[in-house]
Amino acid sequence: MLHSHLISSSGITQKLTHYNVKSTNPNTRVVKLGRQSISAIATPPQSRSAVQSPLRTQSMSPENMEIFKSLNGWVEQNILPLLKPVERSWQPHDFLPDSSLPTDVFQEQLRELRERALELPDDYLVVLVGDMITEEALPTYESFANRHGGATDENVANWAAWNRGWTAEENRHGDLLRTYLYLSGRVNMPMIERTIQYLIGSGMETGTEDNPYMGLVYASFQERATFISHGNTARLAKGHGETVLARICGTIAADEKRHENAYVKMMGKMLEVDPSGAMLGIGEMMRKKIIMPAHLMYDGQDPNLFNHYAAVAQKTGVYTAGDYADILESLVSRWNLEKLEGLDSAGNEAQDFVCRLAPRFRKLQQRAEERAHKTTPRTIRFSWIFDKEVAF
Ligand SMILES: [Fe+2]
Ligand SMILES: [Fe+2]
Repeated sequence: MLHSHLISSSGITQKLTHYNVKSTNPNTRVVKLGRQSISAIATPPQSRSAVQSPLRTQSMSPENMEIFKSLNGWVEQNILPLLKPVERSWQPHDFLPDSSLPTDVFQEQLRELRERALELPDDYLVVLVGDMITEEALPTYESFANRHGGATDENVANWAAWNRGWTAEENRHGDLLRTYLYLSGRVNMPMIERTIQYLIGSGMETGTEDNPYMGLVYASFQERATFISHGNTARLAKGHGETVLARICGTIAADEKRHENAYVKMMGKMLEVDPSGAMLGIGEMMRKKIIMPAHLMYDGQDPNLFNHYAAVAQKTGVYTAGDYADILESLVSRWNLEKLEGLDSAGNEAQDFVCRLAPRFRKLQQRAEERAHKTTPRTIRFSWIFDKEVAF
């Protein structure tokens, strides 16, 4: 048993014990655990670009690839139907002032939107902008999805079709939030647009290498994380009297939930077909910790922009360190990991580690929160809202 460090979003460092696994299975080269740190809930400031990281091992084995290929037909039957046909899908314009109407009617709808948006507090806007920027880095996520399992049309046409369909649905999220925020007049669009360009140019470093199991764990976790955060921005918008924005965020949250179901189902199938390999993939991802997709966010001014945004999300309750443990717990339960059978010894150790992790995070989180309450609140200026100060 080893000790590593966990840095909470409030920056408090505490000890966390984790397991040590020696993998004997050649299919599970992903597991190379030793004396390594569990990475942070809110990652430390990073100004580097992910594409400049040292080269990593290619962790997808030929056996992984065969499993991936063998499930191509299963994806067609079970996963593709989870995408919504375009004709039954909502579009961003459905929620926005109707630009096809006569100018005076359009202007009236726009005036109403801007009036409602005046009720949104600055800290809420910061979180909504950060969520929108995260959505807008979709090109990074599509290339991430295509890298895992070699999801090309030659190899695995239905996996590739899912990736395209998923991307097409996700594309509406950033579009809608971005247009809303632009029309609201409350935010500094040039700084936001600059942040998006920086972020897409930087990519992301998730630690999943190109392993399909780890990619699916990451995707399952992230879809649930976005479901939670969009759900919370919806709830808060309603509280601030902005019912249209509440509907916007709630509608996006519902998409995220449907996507979460798809990825959870895919990983559930992997656990059925290759229990030890899939379990080791989960163990490895949870050891590395799930790093948020926009962790390389930068606006050209604040080198700690992501951490500052994450701290405001924590303070407003939109996405908290406690949610991390909740998501982990929900995945453990949906994949029925506690009762997973037929594992080899490395798989068993990974199972033990993962199933005991959530209560530990929860304990650390409680302690971090207690300490955070004792410290004086800090403030930070965000370029996204014209350098206004927000407490976190
Ligand atoms: Fe999304
Ligand atoms: Fe999503």
